[in-house]
Amino acid sequence: MLEISKNIQRAKQLLNQEEIVAIPTETVYGLAGNIYSEKAIRSIFKIKERPFFNPLIVHIHSIDQLDSFATEIPLKAIQLAQKFWPGSLTLVLKKKSVISDLISAGKDTVAVRIPNHQLTLELLRELDFPLAAPSANPFGCISPTHPKHVVHYFKNDLKLVLDGGQCENGIESTIIGFEEQNPVLYRLGSLSLEKIEAEIGPVRIKNKSETNSPEASGMLSKHYAPKTKTILTNLIHEEIKSNQGKKIGIVAYKKIDYNIQPFSEEILSEKGDIEEAMRNLYAAMHRLDSQNLDVIIAEKFPDSGVGKSINDRLIRATKN
Ligand code: TXA
Ligand code: MG
Repeated sequence: MLEISKNIQRAKQLLNQEEIVAIPTETVYGLAGNIYSEKAIRSIFKIKERPFFNPLIVHIHSIDQLDSFATEIPLKAIQLAQKFWPGSLTLVLKKKSVISDLISAGKDTVAVRIPNHQLTLELLRELDFPLAAPSANPFGCISPTHPKHVVHYFKNDLKLVLDGGQCENGIESTIIGFEEQNPVLYRLGSLSLEKIEAEIGPVRIKNKSETNSPEASGMLSKHYAPKTKTILTNLIHEEIKSNQGKKIGIVAYKKIDYNIQPFSEEILSEKGDIEEAMRNLYAAMHRLDSQNLDVIIAEKFPDSGVGKSINDRLIRATKN
């Protein structure tokens, strides 16, 4: 039986038994397991149908733990950690050997973050080990921002979803790595690049064509995708018109006046608040994807701050 509850002791018990528990974070829900348990880590990959070349993020509760797992930590990484943790920033650092090749997918680096969710922070403090956790969705699918999304995907695979309600930020963490001490962006996310650059100066944006094996699955072009054909456009009215007669679902930032009424619409922020739009994005995509639509038409967001991250996810949603 799958339990959905706030029962931290139950989560602790299962994790101590090398089982997997879905945990809330401020970004999206994760599928968590003990980093020291090969059994737990293998189950994460299995449940998620995730390829082994794709490494996991290690979740800790205190900056003091960093030294146990990472080495050669650049000054700028410390600056970022001090400024933004707990929060939606993942740092990719040179790993120590306690981090298994399974977690790092054979790389010599490890991705680490402190999530900003009280329930999960409390759980992490109670445990004797950090938690490896990818987003709690099957590989390539839309990430979960509510317990019901996790249940939809994994009701037969899990014993417990720790119920932290709706995720506050709603898209994944921003991932920063380092090359020769210089910061490099691996994945846009719910912490804006502008805020990061205000702290440590310019960050190089890794170009997909620079590498054959993607540094982050977030860099795979077909990712975060709904099953429904999705179109991203600046010209929403024209796009609706050229899809006339089809069963259309709309995703838009603010209110739209229609000439042709779509079958359904998701307005992500009536009042035009970009953070609210980000929080609502995945839940809207989950709803639209369950309506047997012919097409989802999404309106492009203002391309700055987290608007860039929303556009990044919408672009990937079109690659299905
Ligand atoms: O917000 C988040 O980051 C959520 C919550 C649960 O923390 N987690 C998440 O995990 O999005 P996942 O596995 O869906 O995405 C983690 C990304 C992957 O794209 C992976 O390739 C990348 O982090 N990653 C992990 N370790 C890495 C490493 N050593 N070098 C480069 N990229 C790494
Ligand atoms: Mg993911």
